[in-house]
Amino acid sequence: MCGIVGYIGHRESSPFLLEGLRRLEYRGYDSAGIAVLGQNGLKICKTAGRIQGLVDKLIDTPLAGTVGIGHTRWATHGQATEVNAHPHHDGGSRIAVVHNGVIENYQSIKTTLEGKGRRFYSATDSEVLAQLIGYELESVEPSADDPYRHLVTAVKAALDQVRGTYGLAVVFRDYPDVLIAARLGSPLVVGIGTGENFLASDASPLVGHTDRIVYLADHQIAVVTADRLDVSHREAGQVHWNAEAMPINAADSGLSGFDHYMLQEIYEQPTSLENAMRGRLSEEHATAVFGGLNLTPRQMRGVNRLVLTACGTSWHAALVGEYLIEELAGIPVEVEYASELRYRNPPLDPETLLFAITQSGETADTLAALREMKRKGHHTLAICNVVGSSIAQEADGGIYLHAGPEVGVASTKAYTSQCVVLAMLALYFGRLRHMSFDAGLRIIESLQALPAQLEKTLEVNDRVKKVAERYAHCNNFLYMGRQFNFPTALEGALKLKEISYIHAEGYPAAEMKHGPIALVDEHTPSVFIMPHGKVYDKVMANLEEVKARGGPVIVVACEGDTDAARLADEVIYTPHVEEFLQPIISVAPLQLLAYHIAVLRGCDVDKPRNLAKSVTVE
Ligand code: M6R
Repeated sequence: MCGIVGYIGHRESSPFLLEGLRRLEYRGYDSAGIAVLGQNGLKICKTAGRIQGLVDKLIDTPLAGTVGIGHTRWATHGQATEVNAHPHHDGGSRIAVVHNGVIENYQSIKTTLEGKGRRFYSATDSEVLAQLIGYELESVEPSADDPYRHLVTAVKAALDQVRGTYGLAVVFRDYPDVLIAARLGSPLVVGIGTGENFLASDASPLVGHTDRIVYLADHQIAVVTADRLDVSHREAGQVHWNAEAMPINAADSGLSGFDHYMLQEIYEQPTSLENAMRGRLSEEHATAVFGGLNLTPRQMRGVNRLVLTACGTSWHAALVGEYLIEELAGIPVEVEYASELRYRNPPLDPETLLFAITQSGETADTLAALREMKRKGHHTLAICNVVGSSIAQEADGGIYLHAGPEVGVASTKAYTSQCVVLAMLALYFGRLRHMSFDAGLRIIESLQALPAQLEKTLEVNDRVKKVAERYAHCNNFLYMGRQFNFPTALEGALKLKEISYIHAEGYPAAEMKHGPIALVDEHTPSVFIMPHGKVYDKVMANLEEVKARGGPVIVVACEGDTDAARLADEVIYTPHVEEFLQPIISVAPLQLLAYHIAVLRGCDVDKPRNLAKSVTVE
């Protein structure tokens, strides 16, 4: 979603701002802009659409100056137009503001300010911040002993009036040697340089510029000059800050021979699985080992219920986790959409442990659900990919995926890494309870074999591409699986929807008879995920029902399954693995299917329309 960059120092700011915005592109956006302070005052350049459009504009009219802020906007209030793009100004171009988050009471503030004669030019909620700070600035006197105190006073006075979330950066035409930033609910980091300092909504734009970063916390305001950083809490005053090392893997290392990040990330999965398991499987104790849960084995043994909360693909991983943990550890698990959990009031006893599952660690609903469960006194843990993200910082403990940056908006490697972490958790909880040493060792062996099996699975790419060519014109797909592969059906359907804009529904296969079967016709392919296992025959019966009604059938089945090959129009084989680990394997052909169909339909695979990589608004 929206991204922020800022620079103050001795160099021209535009190159850093533009490069930084490019590094934030993966978050998803629909317009972009920068504001630069130089000899000609405060100048703003914006565009609807891609950053390249901004770059092209700046070739004709470059903005010179050593202080600047930039933004990529993902529209919430007001269309994705140039006028609604950030930075916004206060009406008199004395200040410029970039803002991530949502100002919920913007309408009433706008009405009040309009009543006082201020004229608004955009349809955004963010403009009220610029106008309000500008308005407040008019009534504060500069202080003799601190050149920036009145600026902070004005920003604080404005923030006291808004309700909502923000990560924001402000530059002032008449104070060209300072940049002010503030955070509540939307992340901001300051990069500490030498004679220059940087600002960004995540660490990625700062890679290569500094390896010292300061994570701002909620309610903090930062005054950033070229050689100084002062942080204060809105109520508590001065804050002593500590710089942390740049997280390893904060940088996107680019495309290495693949046409799209999504395809690259699909192929990275054998490695990302290895990374997720590295150092976490103990053959000596036949269990999994996690360093950061911050609970003793005795406390873990006392846990009598797990709540797994997440959104989107991470929610599908949570469903896989539910099957795994209940099967292997016998602990009741509830999977909750984070957006629902935050407003529900489920009766949970104190021994309930919460896991928030998230790739980005910034998903607003997941963060809010985690906070709500924390407030109720539950121990909260995160299963997260992005080191230092808000959820990673706010959880009481957690497990990092170590999948490396995931740039494609469609989550692939993070999903399989989440599943493998949940499988290790199931092993861990199982071994704390009834699971024997030998059973634990067998699971470890199966887990260790997964990367090679996934590597082998990816050899189906050419076959999947052919299937894609045959069905890319269809406008509806059904995905069906049961038990461990019910979530795989949901995930396959979501992948297709989000990157190819084809309507697709995932269902537990037996549910088909209760409604979706009405959709079956010769133009609606049904994708059955049916590896060998307890429910194979049942799913086969559902497949026959679709065939009997003339629907095309694509099957993901285990190698050598001649029955599936005989009945299906297309069969895609995967290696045999333990039934409970099958979701980690059988999702790969579905990721490839969605990818190839999207490419064939000419879709922007890595930046699908309307979607953002991290969804930082409610
Ligand atoms: O970063 P998170 O895992 O918290 O993100 C949750 C969803 O927004 C995300 O999984 C989304 O559904 C993906 N685009 C799916 O590919």
